[in-house]
Amino acid sequence: MLIHAITADPVYEFAADARTGLTKPGQKELPSKYLYDDVGSALFEVISVLPEYGLTRADERLLQRNASDIVARLPARVLVAELGSGTGKKTRWILRALCRRQHTSYFPIEISPAALAMCKRELGDMEAISIVGFEREYLDGLLEVAARRRPGDHLLVLFLGSTIGNFDRPAGCEFLHKVRGILQPGDSLLLGTDLEKPIPQLLDAYDDPLGVTSAFNLNLLARANRELDANFALEQFEHCVRFNPQARSIEMHLRSRRAQTVEIPRSALSVEFAEGETIWTESCHKFSAEEVRGLARATGFRCDSQWIDSEWPFAESLLIAE
Ligand code: AVJ
Repeated sequence: MLIHAITADPVYEFAADARTGLTKPGQKELPSKYLYDDVGSALFEVISVLPEYGLTRADERLLQRNASDIVARLPARVLVAELGSGTGKKTRWILRALCRRQHTSYFPIEISPAALAMCKRELGDMEAISIVGFEREYLDGLLEVAARRRPGDHLLVLFLGSTIGNFDRPAGCEFLHKVRGILQPGDSLLLGTDLEKPIPQLLDAYDDPLGVTSAFNLNLLARANRELDANFALEQFEHCVRFNPQARSIEMHLRSRRAQTVEIPRSALSVEFAEGETIWTESCHKFSAEEVRGLARATGFRCDSQWIDSEWPFAESLLIAE
């Protein structure tokens, strides 16, 4: 077992992105990736065990039940790269099945240092595995992994948890196209997508009665206070979720409870909020299984197989680069 980390120089974009998003005419926004600092990643771990939020359990069930079937469809000698590993808990099943047939190199790519450290602890006990973590954005990390391949190696990219749903549909398509551009024919992408389900069930999943998702969302403002010296009064904002029927997505917003002005010194910004005005913080798009197959074709993959959870509709799709 070999474990070490390659860490990026911290390039500080939060201040600039906050400025861009909060000065947009019309709907104010903050990019959802900033939800995942160490506090946000820990809160997401709690969300993933809430009874109302079945997504992560469905993802893990599918991986656990079908790991040997999935691995049997892969070429020999694969290197595994995971985009947004989180704590790596659900990845164990695939890695275990792979380690039965080969020594496996696993490269988690993750922007939260605490989640990355946890991932290495969680999976580092496995036999026949080398783990090298990359604290990077997805595509930068994937380029670095691809640069390590030797002739005859294939890449298996894991993009689980329906993270692709955080992109709007055109951006998701563009993202998969970029991933495909880094891959070679015969490489594979295991893509997890949350499927459409009744709206009340979705609203409960993103607005749980314990208030964990609310804390997860509000942490974005707490993070701005910590890192940008902002003065958001957290009790003056509230978590709200809506279903957007055109986009087929759940949107999370932070709603200003009154007219107020917030200072964000590191973004050189003073932001005015009207009562009821919102900051859009995340969209979680929902898919159909056919749509995922179409998305694969449109981005240079073919869909080899799909596994669908019936308890909480969710799909695991194995896409092969053509
Ligand atoms: C981590 C992308 C799977 O979109 O469902 C959970 C994030 N946001 N609750 C999702 C999330 C609010 C989540 N993913």
